[in-house]
Amino acid sequence: MSRTPLPYNPKILELFRNPKNLGKMEDATVTAVAGNPSCGDMIIFYLKIDSKDVIEKASFESYGCAANIATSSIVTEMIKGMKLEDAWKISWKSVVEAVGGLPSVKFHCGILAVGALKRAIRTYYKNKGVSPDWLMKEPTFEEKQAVEEEELAKILSKRMKAEEEK
Ligand code: FES
Repeated sequence: MSRTPLPYNPKILELFRNPKNLGKMEDATVTAVAGNPSCGDMIIFYLKIDSKDVIEKASFESYGCAANIATSSIVTEMIKGMKLEDAWKISWKSVVEAVGGLPSVKFHCGILAVGALKRAIRTYYKNKGVSPDWLMKEPTFEEKQAVEEEELAKILSKRMKAEEEK
């Protein structure tokens, strides 16, 4: 069965071919993972944060699709030099807009990228033992979606293992 290629816009294709800030950051202040390694849709965010809670630099590793690589790349570009409080306000919709739109079946890839960013910010404050007023206690939409996707991936990989063992 042949699959029709997804209608990615040129900006996504360019970011996929030449992603910015791709790679592990050895001196990261904080690291966050979203997704599930067993299904391959996994993303790791690295942030270097200065003493004034400003993001000095950001990088990522992605084991997801073109949309995930493109959205992660643009997120790392958007947040460079931003205060954590402002980076926290970035929504998956603004990221989708920044890459010029995504096919709707690929929205979750952008949501995962923002979910990883928000996890990194949360982890940073957790490690510091502080909780700024603007950091909502409840998980954001993107964080909830990341958890749902991880749960689903776990169920699927368990099912696949069970099938293989039959
Ligand atoms: S990251 Fe899973 S399909 Fe894009």
